[in-house]
Amino acid sequence: MKITIIGSGYVGLVTGACLSEHGNDVLCLDLDPRKIEMLQRGEIPIYEPGLEEIVQRNAAAGRLRFTTDIVESVAHGTVQFIAVGTPPDEDGSADLQYVLAAARNIARYMTDYKVVVDKSTVPVGTADKVKAAIGETLRERGVELPFSVVSNPEFLKEGAAVEDFMKPDRIVVGADDERAIHAMRAIYQPFQRNHDRTLVMDVRSAELTKYAANAMLATRISFMNELANLAEVLGADIELVRRGIGSDPRIGYSFLYPGVGYGGSCFPKDVKALCRSAQENGMDLQVLTAVEAANDAQKLRLVQKVVARFGDDLTGKRFALWGLAFKPRTDDMREAPSLVIVQELLSRGATVCAFDPVAMKEARRILGERIDYAASPMAALDNADALLVVTEWKEFQAPDFERVKSLLKQPVIIDGRNLFDPQTVKAYGIDYDAIGRH
Ligand code: UDX
Repeated sequence: MKITIIGSGYVGLVTGACLSEHGNDVLCLDLDPRKIEMLQRGEIPIYEPGLEEIVQRNAAAGRLRFTTDIVESVAHGTVQFIAVGTPPDEDGSADLQYVLAAARNIARYMTDYKVVVDKSTVPVGTADKVKAAIGETLRERGVELPFSVVSNPEFLKEGAAVEDFMKPDRIVVGADDERAIHAMRAIYQPFQRNHDRTLVMDVRSAELTKYAANAMLATRISFMNELANLAEVLGADIELVRRGIGSDPRIGYSFLYPGVGYGGSCFPKDVKALCRSAQENGMDLQVLTAVEAANDAQKLRLVQKVVARFGDDLTGKRFALWGLAFKPRTDDMREAPSLVIVQELLSRGATVCAFDPVAMKEARRILGERIDYAASPMAALDNADALLVVTEWKEFQAPDFERVKSLLKQPVIIDGRNLFDPQTVKAYGIDYDAIGRH
């Protein structure tokens, strides 16, 4: 099938590459010529395991091409995926200008039937706006052409996006006409594996499903973070509590890890946007509002622990940070708790030396020379008053604790990701403080 992807960012690129992998003829559009030139050379502008191979393989086979030419991109695909950004407005609502501009462009140049698919995470009601924008533009042109608008949200996790796309739990298709449903079923047929995972529903339910999934996961995290803080006060161990509740199949084990707060490009933005769209409809989402507030507070948790130990004035103190990305296996720093932690430490007069296996380039772009960057986890510890663990990269999980102790000025580890067994670390004579453990 001929498919166009509008927007070659994270979601667009993964979608385009994975669809070409199953033999579709995919053309990816982006208005940024530098990005398109890179992609045409086989270079991937983002870090995502497995993506480069898929892009290069399918580009070489001629099934995956990149362009900045809107006219060509509209002409190419019967199915046009809109995967452009929806950055939050100042009030937290999703900014739809790029989505609607993409819709109008399709309408401006189309000459036959198109299925227009909203892939970007967009508020409930956006498909109707997309439909209206296309209808209006066609009327301005004085032509009448058939089109369908579909909501097909993605559920990709950064660091596992290719795997998530190739082996989805479910494929949500919000559509209200058979022609579009038929096209979407055909596209996703190769991804079904042992049973049909497509959930066809009305457009608004599909749009809300995406927000509901992320909001539920964010709620679990904030709930566990709050409970971990309570466990500390009560002298309980949140890790044991986590296992104790996770064993109930109604609860399950995933997304119950307390930490330094959730970050990334989805949870913070989607929780805000859902609260905002409820407000616009005269409703307050009390649970989700609290989820967000609890998360903001959790991002300060490590710094509170630092202050409790070293005092509010951190002048002359130096802290080693392990991990900068908002989670492992990505270089993404969007809404990363590390940014809040660094800011708070610096504002109290401390210096910071950080190591991250892949996010240091991105961190340097954002933080510049305000912090130091180490060449290895151990190098970051040199002369530091404490080690703060911020991201749970695998390479941090089994350090040589003797060495850690000898490099630190004071043997203190404040672990925001509960990476280590407290008894093991303490046996080295290291003062170990984790989240909700003792
Ligand atoms: C998320 C959703 O998982 C994905 O389905 C959606 O499409 C986009 O948003 P992503 O942002 O890539 O994906 O990361 P995810 O692995 O979900 O983690 C989000 C944040 O929650 C990270 O900051 C992570 O550290 C935190 N987290 C996750 C916890 O603090 N505890 C957990 O138990 C799980």
